Amino acid sequence: MKMSDRIDSLLSRMTLKQKVGQLNQEMLDFRRLEEIKEKIRKGEIGSLILVDSAFAGHDKSARASVEVLNELQRIAMEESECGIPIIYGKDVIHGHIIVLPVPLALAASFNMPLIKEGYSAIAEAAAADGIHWSFAPMLDLSRDPRWGRIIESPGEDPYLGAQIAKAIVEGFQGEDLSDPKSIAACAKHYIGYGASEGGRDYHKAEISDYTLRNYYLRAFKEAVKSKVSTVMTSFNEVSGQPVSSSYYLLTELLKNELGFEGFVISDWEAIKQLKKQGVADSMKDCVYLAFNAGLDMDMVDRLYIQHLEELVEEGKVSMEALDESVRRVLNIKLKLGLFDHPYTKCDAPIDRSKLRSLSREAARESMVLLKNDNNVLPLSKNAKIALIGPMVNERRALLGAWTLDYDLDEVKTFREALPEIAPEAEWYTCDSGLVDDELRMIRRADVVVLVLGESHEVTGEARSLTSIELPVGQAELVRKARSLGKPVVGVICCGRPVALDNVDDCLDAILYAWHGGSQTAYAAADILFGDVCPSGKTPVTFPRVTGQIPIYYNHPSSGRYVNGYYGEEAINNYEDCLGSPMYPFGYGLSYTSFEYTECKLSSDKISLEALEEGETIKASVLVTNTGNMDGKEVVQCYIRDVCASMTRPVKELKGFEKILIRKGQTVEITFELGKEELGFYNKDRNFVVEKGEFEVYIGDNCLTQNKAVFEVI
Ligand code: GLC
Repeated sequence: MKMSDRIDSLLSRMTLKQKVGQLNQEMLDFRRLEEIKEKIRKGEIGSLILVDSAFAGHDKSARASVEVLNELQRIAMEESECGIPIIYGKDVIHGHIIVLPVPLALAASFNMPLIKEGYSAIAEAAAADGIHWSFAPMLDLSRDPRWGRIIESPGEDPYLGAQIAKAIVEGFQGEDLSDPKSIAACAKHYIGYGASEGGRDYHKAEISDYTLRNYYLRAFKEAVKSKVSTVMTSFNEVSGQPVSSSYYLLTELLKNELGFEGFVISDWEAIKQLKKQGVADSMKDCVYLAFNAGLDMDMVDRLYIQHLEELVEEGKVSMEALDESVRRVLNIKLKLGLFDHPYTKCDAPIDRSKLRSLSREAARESMVLLKNDNNVLPLSKNAKIALIGPMVNERRALLGAWTLDYDLDEVKTFREALPEIAPEAEWYTCDSGLVDDELRMIRRADVVVLVLGESHEVTGEARSLTSIELPVGQAELVRKARSLGKPVVGVICCGRPVALDNVDDCLDAILYAWHGGSQTAYAAADILFGDVCPSGKTPVTFPRVTGQIPIYYNHPSSGRYVNGYYGEEAINNYEDCLGSPMYPFGYGLSYTSFEYTECKLSSDKISLEALEEGETIKASVLVTNTGNMDGKEVVQCYIRDVCASMTRPVKELKGFEKILIRKGQTVEITFELGKEELGFYNKDRNFVVEKGEFEVYIGDNCLTQNKAVFEVI
């Protein structure tokens, strides 16, 4: 029987209450297990979220055993009237038992095949634990490192965000959603959450439709194109309209214009909060607004189960609309194969070795070498090394926020990992953590490795900061270390980009290791000792100081003089700070060097008609590894639409390729620029390419001046 026929048949047999039950997600609270079982029997629960606290991202959640999940599923299949399986959802954000780098770090890898492979392995591990659905990828374009959730994001660029959306959705969902190793993905938080004012979590986002469509929507558009199963609404409002009650955003734009066929779930109690946001005067009114906006499933505030039936009976919610939402939910359950295979095998092992090697590879490719004066790196494996700093003996923080299921035994500290990778070196470290003991170590060493960073507890949800400098005391340690006249290497383990203005000149080298997951220390050691050539690039701009925020590369040109970011004259700088960032978007050093030839174009013009027919302009360079070490380079292609009906960014990433180039080898890289790359949403919400001059840049970060010009005629 076709899926649609199965759904029609199911719907025809369901009562109103049972239909509403499919739109209700409850928390698997072990303290209420019997109550939950009873609700399942009555068909009042369509989904369970496997967390036991509102701030799951910071606590190790109680793990539901496969046996318990199968028992609850058995009740749904055998003891409820409809026999509709429950879909189990969980925040499997960047790992399961073994953890990959936080998503912002993964974005720094610019390695989409690796990200896809990593999420495929995570899906297999989560599915083995009975999880059907993950609330990831988080696709909120983020320009504000004060916002703790920037660590979950793909960074500041729409194109990079779109590629990551595709990689994670395909990694999670595989070729066939019914494969027992696949899980459903969830594009979140739709939409504009990363623009929360002041980086204050949950605050309003003031985003014009023009900006929303050309920046924030891009990753979600790609997720829908990649057949993402679900979308989660964000807590914020967009310019006066809470997303969870916006018919324009949820139905007109997401479902009708983008053609999203899965179902929309609210964020945690985001329906209930509509009253607090001042657009609803009762809980029933919250339900009326959210459901009629196009929000299909209610996450844990139990409002749909309380008020939807009544609203249908009163004619304020149409049975047709209700059936449409239930159809969307049943369709995903059918695609997951839950009707035919509702139970999880209890003995399915998790392939830890695959996850472990993927975690290490992802961490290696995510780490960004920001600075390497006098080639102080790589270190000799026979050096006398002082290894000190607040993160030397840290484990949990390296996993980052939004890590619910992890095994700390899988996490080596820097103190354990580095001497293992370089056993011949002389190691000076101290357990005291007292700075004067640490200084004593420095005096005995040839080189100092400072392991610095922030706790995972100051990143993630509800964790905004007013200052993004290194945590208290660390700048002093850096300055003191510098004053002792030894080369100083900073290894920085943070989730967000931190402002390095007060330490940068005291560090000879900076390796940004992020919250790099279970294998952070090993991967950092691989790079520090030259076993691996660093290849990460910044997925977000690194401000000099907090006061520069928001600062991002793909901004429109200012009307007067210069743009600061690109380091032109002082006119546009602050009185007390340069206008340029500490490190720009797409930036990262290598142990080798790469030379680019001039950017060449296949033509100096292309017609609108040709673009409509799918023709493209091809932009090419030759890249040569001129160093004495094999290395990976992220070749980046940017455009500028010089004159258009609306202001356009001075640079926009429209392509990148990460490629291994052997020492002495030359490779040709070509990017195709067609309608999708050259177009933008204009003031009338139409996606258009306009005639006029376009600049193309190809280089190793957004500041590249390797330019060619063509015209759309
Ligand atoms: C949280 C987060 C969301 C998460 C959900 C379930 O509040 O905003 O990202 O998926 O609730 O834990």
